[in-house]
Amino acid sequence: MNADDQKRAAAARAVEFVRPGMKLGLGTGSTAKHFVDLVGERVKGGLDVICVPTSEATHAQAISLGIPLTTLDETPALDLTVDGADEIDPDLSLIKGGGGALLREKIVAAASARMIVISDPSKLVPALGRFPLPVEVTPFGYSATRLAVEKAISSLQKCGPLSLRKGKDGHPFVTDGGHWIIDAALTRIDDPKAMAHALSGIPGVMEHGLFVGLAQMAIIGGPDGIKILERP
Ligand code: A5P
Repeated sequence: MNADDQKRAAAARAVEFVRPGMKLGLGTGSTAKHFVDLVGERVKGGLDVICVPTSEATHAQAISLGIPLTTLDETPALDLTVDGADEIDPDLSLIKGGGGALLREKIVAAASARMIVISDPSKLVPALGRFPLPVEVTPFGYSATRLAVEKAISSLQKCGPLSLRKGKDGHPFVTDGGHWIIDAALTRIDDPKAMAHALSGIPGVMEHGLFVGLAQMAIIGGPDGIKILERP
């Protein structure tokens, strides 16, 4: 079983939590893509759900599969969001945003009664931070915001290098919301909650990739089958 099979197995287990009539948040990334495919199969088989995608990419995938879509304006409270993650710690705090969709992912997860994170075992870590922390910022005042991000991180722990994420064309990567992303290489985040709080208070920071207290369950597809972790 390769990593992609493990991701698909986790997605298949997550689909078992979907009930007819549910309002669902659809995540973004290579793991969530499997979940969306499987929801699409169920919809073709007659499952009645309505979904909010967390990115333009997931929106396009859902449309291609004939999944009925809504928006958070029409449907502001969802039952369940299923999404991937870049890192998952033992408290089910997450780093997300490797694919650049963190802002919509967090808005959708926060609007959901329940969030299930799905992954292969490579995302499980004893402490967050080996994966660079994405911080989504407005292009206006970028250098000032970047300096404020550096100061906020340094007030809590040693700040590693910050880099502006670039696209394949060498220009700044632009998110679905028209923002840029600073990737903060921190090696280890000592206190994710304090870090989340410090970054959230900076004008110009639209959102950061720390998802603390949002996921209730992680479904991990591994070589020996599925492991389910629940938030302590
Ligand atoms: C998208 O912005 C991210 O938050 C993804 O959910 C995360 O990067 C996991 O992606 P993969 O499933 O592709 O690893």
